[in-house]
Amino acid sequence: MPLQGEKHQSLPSNTQARTSPPRSRKKFVFLQLALLTGLALAIGTLGKLALGTSLWKDAAVEYLSNAFDCGQLDLCQQEEPLIPRKNAELWRELDDAFGTEGFEARAIGWLAGAVKYPTESYDNMDPVGIDPRWDTFGPLQHYLTTAFPLVNAKLSLTKVNTYGLLYEWTGSDTSLKPIVLAAHQDVVPVLPETVDEWTHPPFSGYFDGERIWGRGTVDDKSGLIGILAAVESMLEKGFKPTRTVVLAFGFDEEAHGHYGAAELAKAMLDIYGEKAFAFIIDEGGGFGEVYGTTVAIPAIAEKGYMDLLVEVSSPGGHSSVPPKHTSIGMLARMLVELEDNPYPVQITKDHILYRTLQCYATHSKDLPEDFRKAIKHSASSKKAMKTLNNFITQDLRFSASVGTTQALDLINGGVKTNALPERASAVINHRISTLEHVSNVKEHSTNTVRHLADKFNLTFTAFGETLTDPSVPKYGELALSVAFGKSDLEPAPVTPTEGANAGPYKLLSGTIKAAYKQHRGLINDVVEEDDIIVAPGMSTGNTDTKYYWDLTEHILRYNHRNSGTAKTPSISGVHTVNEYIEVDSFLEIIKFFSTLILNADESTSI
Ligand SMILES: *[C@@H]1O[C@H](CO)[C@@H](O)[C@H](O)[C@H]1NC(C)=O
Ligand SMILES: [Zn+2]
Repeated sequence: MPLQGEKHQSLPSNTQARTSPPRSRKKFVFLQLALLTGLALAIGTLGKLALGTSLWKDAAVEYLSNAFDCGQLDLCQQEEPLIPRKNAELWRELDDAFGTEGFEARAIGWLAGAVKYPTESYDNMDPVGIDPRWDTFGPLQHYLTTAFPLVNAKLSLTKVNTYGLLYEWTGSDTSLKPIVLAAHQDVVPVLPETVDEWTHPPFSGYFDGERIWGRGTVDDKSGLIGILAAVESMLEKGFKPTRTVVLAFGFDEEAHGHYGAAELAKAMLDIYGEKAFAFIIDEGGGFGEVYGTTVAIPAIAEKGYMDLLVEVSSPGGHSSVPPKHTSIGMLARMLVELEDNPYPVQITKDHILYRTLQCYATHSKDLPEDFRKAIKHSASSKKAMKTLNNFITQDLRFSASVGTTQALDLINGGVKTNALPERASAVINHRISTLEHVSNVKEHSTNTVRHLADKFNLTFTAFGETLTDPSVPKYGELALSVAFGKSDLEPAPVTPTEGANAGPYKLLSGTIKAAYKQHRGLINDVVEEDDIIVAPGMSTGNTDTKYYWDLTEHILRYNHRNSGTAKTPSISGVHTVNEYIEVDSFLEIIKFFSTLILNADESTSI
């Protein structure tokens, strides 16, 4: 699971509760505002002509900026809950079924069963069939085929690179674009030295009456089993899809996806073709309380990525007669230079975070008022944008979401205290802003260390190009390159969320609201604006979907996981010790996937 920008709680909270007007009134106010503004501007122009004064125009501008102040302009459009119509009856039946004790026991059993297989994936694994560490996936695959008998009887299964699972639930109308539900079967390894810190053993799937414990209960076996449980339950009710549903389960998401998602992508491209899918939904943001309001944050983009390898070489020798700078010393100087020259953080209206913040400013009850003001006013004022940027730069998670980040993660050099190091190297991890490119990182790092190559009398090679004169003899070498062969990745294309091409995002938004309300028995209530808000967001990490860009324009990174509140989290321990999920949260995930399948099945807008 990638890091999500969903829990921004670190800014000081000095707020009072705030309620916004109901939607209908809002629309009315908006209309009224538009009319009044038009009128005021017209009168202002007339007035200016007649009286040579811009008094009226000022009044109009004043009115407008007050409108921004009070949040009357909706920069965070919300969908209504989307309730299946054609299959309304089935949807209710499923809800009833999911609410029984018998189903709860099955759901716990399904997830706990999958957690018991320690399908850990590691960096730099050899291919399937060669590296014995893949062997743990065979038993999980066997488990999945026996635990979900109807899925395996009614869907066709293609095994991709042995452990990649590609299921097709064929719809009756093949003219409709299929949808893809994706998840991964692997988990991050449990460090042997941390096993003692687990309240219940990491591969036990222990159920304590409320929570299911173990590695993968959240990331991402709750997604994998949530999807399969939804499909199995729908098959039990006799549902036959109109629109084809494809399930794509990778097995090395936590280790870059080379063998799983990369191969699944090729297979899907082969079978279905380019841009063949209405949408792909994979793990990503969930929902939970943010600034006092429940917000769901599907990620509509992903940052880019690059590991930069910096290598310094210089003559070896005995350390009793050392040069002024060894390879290690020179490398250290370059790393300091790089850290001292971080990438600028400057939020603009084009950043995904800007849109997430607009939703907070419009809907979050406990957002600090000065922060809210800066967000709202930034739509029309450069000064407010500056203030907003100050807020952003004070918060690591916000600034990581906006700018390109760099982290010195690996260093290597020296073998013996009496030998000068001939070579020293470091790897710097970059997460590239959605508004920048891999080439910006290459350029920035080249420019930042270039003068040090001169200072230390080194030939300088940057990304295959020698930038110093090769005919002039040098003391040593400095080389910049992309580490590990090909670790570079451009930022993902942004999934449309507005306008005619936003059908899939809107369908997801409506589905989130319907599943949320139904799960709480609120479905027949009048729409309460602040039940749950859906805000577009962004991943600072990458998912298997980095291989899926050619398959659809509409990649949605979201799993309907309730993270609860800061005080009472309903999930915990992702990528660390004591991973667990509340059974209620898991049941809601199953409900979400079945609602999504039904909504997609009858949708005419995707
Ligand atoms: C750079 O190193 C080379 C090789 O050791 C040496 O010949 C040259 O004089 C050095 N240049 C400077 C400016 O120190
Ligand atoms: Zn994951």
